[in-house]
Amino acid sequence: QPSSPQMEESSVLRRADCRAKGGSPGFKVAILGAAGGIGQPLAMLMKMNPLVSVLHLYDVVNSPGVTADLSHMDTGAVVRGFLGQPQLEGALTGMDLVIIPAGVPRKPGMTRDDLFNINAGIVKTLCEGVAKCCPNAIVNLISNPVNSTVPIAAEVFKKAGTYDPKRLLGVTTLDVVRANTFVAEVLGLDPREVNVPVVGGHAGVTILPLLSQVKPPCSFTPEETDYLTNRIQNGGTEVVEAKAGAGSATLSMAYAAVKFADACLRGLRGDAGIVECAFVASQVTELPFFATKVRLGRSGAEEVFQLGPLNEYERAGLEKAKKELAESIQKGIVFINK
Ligand code: NAI
Repeated sequence: QPSSPQMEESSVLRRADCRAKGGSPGFKVAILGAAGGIGQPLAMLMKMNPLVSVLHLYDVVNSPGVTADLSHMDTGAVVRGFLGQPQLEGALTGMDLVIIPAGVPRKPGMTRDDLFNINAGIVKTLCEGVAKCCPNAIVNLISNPVNSTVPIAAEVFKKAGTYDPKRLLGVTTLDVVRANTFVAEVLGLDPREVNVPVVGGHAGVTILPLLSQVKPPCSFTPEETDYLTNRIQNGGTEVVEAKAGAGSATLSMAYAAVKFADACLRGLRGDAGIVECAFVASQVTELPFFATKVRLGRSGAEEVFQLGPLNEYERAGLEKAKKELAESIQKGIVFINK
């Protein structure tokens, strides 16, 4: 039997008190789409995150089962489940961070844009909930096509009068995670030692790895550059095809989402020097949204970094990326204002 709400509440308070004495704050995090392929491993990893004191798991199916299962883990976070639209408000009220992996994933032969018709509406509804119940929360948007869903979320928040560009972040961490892994393979290094900035957006040619800015400094032959750029841009499709109809990346995505969410929470805590790539409102190019490195702090993406020096190959890639991105961003904006 699940514990009573009273027992649970007093347990939350006891743990919060403990944390206060230890000086470490606990954050309240909601995952929307928590019973899905990404949602479940993401929920498990967040349950293991010491920065999380309360974890709300919302979905339109199966969230009670996932919640009961995770609630038996002997980690600090208290887990609560929420099922269906009538419980969305309860899931969101009081949250510091909302992570959104709700929506359908790709099947072989599909582009991320093919998901637009279903996922645009889902993201709209969920963001209306965020605007109403936790307008100050940081939002990590995972649902594809990210290049359009982030502009959709921005328009929803603008209409509600709650928009703060610093708090809305499209999650592109998986592109960075893949880039680090594939570049490390080519260089014969441990991937943990490699850092590849990936800019632009999160679909096909809009995913632009800046191989000239890899740390540690290194150089690639034209063949290696082509191979790495293509593999990083098509990493998602590689997984979609291998899964052969059973969905897209879920485990590596959950890992990437937690890496990013943890960085956001450390920023919220006030840690210095937290820098990650994300798709955010931006003045780096003429486009209203663009992924670059951002510095995360108490109010979200507090600083958006410039691209830095690009080589000729990257400048050509940037032009292609911007063309596609402009259309995807516009599509999102039009969806809300039609
Ligand atoms: P999935 O189908 O396994 O899970 C999606 C979950 O969302 C399901 O549990 C479903 O019930 C739930 N859902 C559907 N409508 C909902 C609503 N209105 N409210 C709340 N929950 C709702 O899909 P998966 O594999 O977890 O992927 C989720 C999304 O993440 C897809 O759009 C996918 O394309 C995207 N994705 C994004 C990546 C990125 O790098 N940003 C990488 C991989 C996937």
